[in-house]
Amino acid sequence: MNPNKAVAAGSATLMYQNKSFELPVLAGTEGPNVVDIRKLYGESDLFTYDPGFTSTASCESDITFIDGDRGILLYRGYSIDDLAEHSNFLEVCFLLLYGNLPEKAEMQRFHKAITHHTMVHEQLASFFHGFRRDAHPMAIMCGVVGALSAFYHDSTDINDPHQREIASHRLIAKIPTLAAMAYKYSIGQPFVYPLNHLGYTENFLRMTFAVPAEDYKVNPVLAKALDTIFILHADHEQNASTSTVRLAGSSGANPFACIAAGIACLWGPAHGGANEAALRMLEEIGSVDHIPEYIRRAKDKDDPFRLMGFGHRVYKNYDPRAKAMQQQCHAVLDELGVHDDPLLKVAMELERIALQDEYFIDKKLYPNIDFYSGITLKALGFPTSMFTALFALARTVGWIAQWKEMLEDPELKIGRPRQLYTGASRRDYLPLNQR
Ligand code: SDX
Repeated sequence: MNPNKAVAAGSATLMYQNKSFELPVLAGTEGPNVVDIRKLYGESDLFTYDPGFTSTASCESDITFIDGDRGILLYRGYSIDDLAEHSNFLEVCFLLLYGNLPEKAEMQRFHKAITHHTMVHEQLASFFHGFRRDAHPMAIMCGVVGALSAFYHDSTDINDPHQREIASHRLIAKIPTLAAMAYKYSIGQPFVYPLNHLGYTENFLRMTFAVPAEDYKVNPVLAKALDTIFILHADHEQNASTSTVRLAGSSGANPFACIAAGIACLWGPAHGGANEAALRMLEEIGSVDHIPEYIRRAKDKDDPFRLMGFGHRVYKNYDPRAKAMQQQCHAVLDELGVHDDPLLKVAMELERIALQDEYFIDKKLYPNIDFYSGITLKALGFPTSMFTALFALARTVGWIAQWKEMLEDPELKIGRPRQLYTGASRRDYLPLNQR
């Protein structure tokens, strides 16, 4: 990252208690300018207040740009539509990590580096056996990814660029192996080792669905669809799990522990857990006749029900990934000859009705990436419980790219937000017999 690429763009004046404070305004290459408040507290004794960080830029970044109003998503300047159509996931990993599309020799070196880190330490396999067979794959992923810290002491010195790169390659390479192992463990089948002559996503499909008793041939159409799905999920600016990884990394925690923290955050149903929740919602709705009742419930403030797969903190227009996701959904269902999937019918009718409903129009609630991913992943053969683990598999490269960028920022400091305290002022302790 080139530090401090932001440029001065005037200033903002804050008037408070008959004093005025000049705050610099900075501009990036795209998106809103920012008011630089780094000196505000020192000069004014004021904090800013922004629960949920809806109006707060936590860092300067060159990696991913989102325009929520125009439905734009760029990875290092390349639009998600172009990358989904023309690229592949491993090339996108290189792009996110190093900032540019690789030349042929660079891609060959990167492919070799990743391919030769796909196996995990054999001891790690016994780590899985500590879980119940019905453990949620995300619980297993939190555990085993964090446990990598115990296996790779030679790549946990975050101040050594070479060790940072090895750890990055190890995480990108091993996350599919671990996700496949989590699935195999849950169904009582033996783990399948990676095969290095296969591509990244083909290798993952084989580790997930092959059995030792027979040959397994990867369906290239399905592999391409899943590879594209991974591209769509690879990074997304400073979302909740990425911010978790950055905050953990700012304390100097090792990369494996930081990614485990990101996995834990992604698991939430309001975030990466939404793909699993969206499919369960479609299954609960069951038929198009039930849709009006669920639309009513989604609008009822007293009802905690939300349309899973709808709405987004940033996108106030259609999530560009949702369109590409819907295309992959149709490609997979067509390849599998599944033309009358009842869940797809419910999803498309739910989308049609919601997009015409005043409530959703006023609140700018559109389908997000999770709305169609569940139907697609189910058709690919994954159980619902694996959906968020697949999201974590794809997002690992984004987390690592953001973690690497943060560590290379000369202005890096530990993240430590403050608060607006509304609790009790100082009061004296009273012994029990006086209360
Ligand atoms: C991901 O941040 C990222 O980039 C995340 C992600 C990534 O790639 O990392 O894109 C991945 O997490 C996608 C989002 C997946 N989550 C879901 O699909 C869960 C359902 N969606 C909601 O929980 C919600 O939309 C959020 C959590 C996604 C956003 O929450 P916000 O920021 O509070 O939404 P908002 O402020 O835009 O809401 C505006 C209004 C609110 O009502 P009011 O307070 O104004 O009366 O719309 C309501 C919300 O209550 N609302 C919904 C709704 N989502 C928001 N009402 C019904 N159904 C919904 N899905």
